[in-house]
Amino acid sequence: MNKESIFRNKDALSIKYSPEKIYHRDEQINALSRILAPMLRNEKPSNVFIYGLTGTGKTLVTTYVTTNLENFTIKHNIPLKVLFVNCKMKKVADTEYRLLAYLSSLLGEGVPATGLPTDEVYRRFYSALENIGGNVVIVLDEIDALVKKVGDELLYNFTRMCETIKDVNLSLIGISNDLSFMEYLDARVKSSLSEEEIIFPPYNYEQLKDILFDRAMVAFNPGKIDEAAITKCAALAAQEHGDARRALDLLRIAGEIAERNGDERVVEKHIDLAEEKLDLDRMSEAARVLPKHSKIVLYTVLCLLRNRDKVLTGDIQKYYEHICEQLGVRPLTQRRISDIIAELDMQGLINASVISKGRYGRTREITLSLSKATHDKILLQLKQELDL
Ligand SMILES: Nc1ncnc2c1ncn2[C@@H]1O[C@H](COP(=O)(O)OP(=O)(O)OP(=O)(O)O)[C@@H](O)[C@H]1O
Ligand SMILES: [Mg+2]
Repeated sequence: MNKESIFRNKDALSIKYSPEKIYHRDEQINALSRILAPMLRNEKPSNVFIYGLTGTGKTLVTTYVTTNLENFTIKHNIPLKVLFVNCKMKKVADTEYRLLAYLSSLLGEGVPATGLPTDEVYRRFYSALENIGGNVVIVLDEIDALVKKVGDELLYNFTRMCETIKDVNLSLIGISNDLSFMEYLDARVKSSLSEEEIIFPPYNYEQLKDILFDRAMVAFNPGKIDEAAITKCAALAAQEHGDARRALDLLRIAGEIAERNGDERVVEKHIDLAEEKLDLDRMSEAARVLPKHSKIVLYTVLCLLRNRDKVLTGDIQKYYEHICEQLGVRPLTQRRISDIIAELDMQGLINASVISKGRYGRTREITLSLSKATHDKILLQLKQELDL
């Protein structure tokens, strides 16, 4: 018998896919459209700062609204250009020079990849803007990454440019899932960038269900996924922080696992397996990029937790020093180790809770935050990376 495949259109679960319908974001779509509307009357709109946790639809909604705007303006002969930059992208936004060169190229102004003085690159970008005229929107997605890489001077120059440039209605849309970078911004830049703010709250269980059911219809062949499996994905993602991307990833991976196992349809069990795989991938990546001493501390903790449920900060020192000796590196002080433990806790690699030991002060009690299978795999990975 020729078994029908599980997926009908797996791409519908990938990040490149733009869904036909955007659920539960009418408020944000309307807000952004309203803010940009003055462009249709040839007036300068406010700058906008868009904030929300990862997977809350910020990029999707912004792309949707700006694309609609572009289509409308083409039809009505209104001059408008949207320059979209994902600031996490390498070679595009890792230096001020590169970003300006990239934006200029989107405006049709060639700038050599290197070699010009910064002033000159600014001048060319400025004149490219003036040449194009009309309305220009610059979208800086993942703007926190830009500030981390190149500082805030560029944003200062951009916000100034918005105010001073003639014959162009220039406005900025900054998008971020991390507010910590705001602390470093010059007060004027901060207030200029967030003339308007739009918040994207996390999706709840019901909202995630709507998004997932809709997408599953496109992605899977009829009867190839249980309703219970889809609701489980929604529940897991809602528990975490309402991240639609994670929910869609779970669905995709569950389908792949079912397919690989030769199973007839996707059921709840596949969602559990998918979650485990996602956790392992995430934790393994988090462990891989740790600095050496953090790796040694994590390795120590995971070794100790192999045959007990919990360890105290004080228990770690001796074993940690022993590993350092084996590796020929100088051990860090107890205080630094405490800091590292707090960092590992923040990343979810371990659980550490502060407990009071009466007059002996406070200590941290560390327990495992990983599943058994993930624990074993990370331990093995660290052993190899540390060459132990
Ligand atoms: N309301 C929605 N309706 C349908 N699909 C959605 C909705 N919100 C998000 N998605 C889907 O979820 C995924 C994540 O959305 P998006 O990339 O817009 O998140 P984000 O807020 O930009 O996250 P990040 O901060 O990590 O960049 C995408 O695949 C998107 O298509
Ligand atoms: Mg995004």
